[in-house]
Amino acid sequence: MENSSPRYDRVQVTLHWLIAAIVFFMIGLGLYMVELPKKWELPPGEESVRAFYFLLHKSMGITVAMLMILRVVWRLTHKVPPMPDTIPKWQQRAATTVHAVFYIMLLAIPLTGYLQSMYSKFHTKFWGITLPRMAEADKLAREQFSEIHQFLAYLLVVLIVLHVAAAIKHHLSGSGIFDRMSFKR
Ligand code: HEM
Ligand code: HEM
Repeated sequence: MENSSPRYDRVQVTLHWLIAAIVFFMIGLGLYMVELPKKWELPPGEESVRAFYFLLHKSMGITVAMLMILRVVWRLTHKVPPMPDTIPKWQQRAATTVHAVFYIMLLAIPLTGYLQSMYSKFHTKFWGITLPRMAEADKLAREQFSEIHQFLAYLLVVLIVLHVAAAIKHHLSGSGIFDRMSFKR
């Protein structure tokens, strides 16, 4: 039987879970790759895998930015289900704020990642395609964008913890919130 309670549409649900999965992977990958030894820190003759993981991180991160642009366009041109009245107003406002911050951060994080990469002495590649360099390498600018990128990524982790905890809490209290973002029809 068709469930009549309002839900996010299939495109919104697909983008939510696809982006969430890539973002989880990206956070793990980012934290892992920065700990890898640089080429000159390894014994002579040993190859570094650092560049491979950095290039993977950059390509996936730019992919997230593209998916987010699509998501914003879709979001602005399609209806979203109103929050159920059973949820207290302050919680509705908190959820809306966190969701809006997610949208901003999931564009700002790839942007600051891209900028730090552009100001570094390395090329920025997107799945093997070298992207044009729009500025000369600049150590100070690279470090500043690197710090912002790192700070925003850590803040994102905090918000994800809050968001997932809220989703689980609502799911356990049977408010049907989880179904709004599920594929089940
Ligand atoms: C296990 C992990 C996750 C669960 C269980 C989950 C669950 C949900 C649920 C149930 C909603 C719908 C809320 C409503 O009815 O209004 C939602 C919305 C949303 N989630 Fe998640 N989520 C998860 C991970 C993430 C991650 C990692 C991100 C971002 C990095 C994210 C970003 C969003 C955004 C932006 C919305 C609002 C969508 C909109 O109104 O356009 N979620 N999530
Ligand atoms: C959703 C997208 C992204 C997420 C969640 C993310 C997350 C992270 C995280 C958690 C780190 C480790 C921070 C640290 O502990 O130092 C990191 C580092 C890094 N990210 Fe991203 N990132 C994203 C997109 C990008 C993009 C698009 C680029 C470049 C095109 C990029 C370039 C880098 C670089 C070069 C580092 C290493 C910084 C350093 O050496 O200090 N990231 N990222």
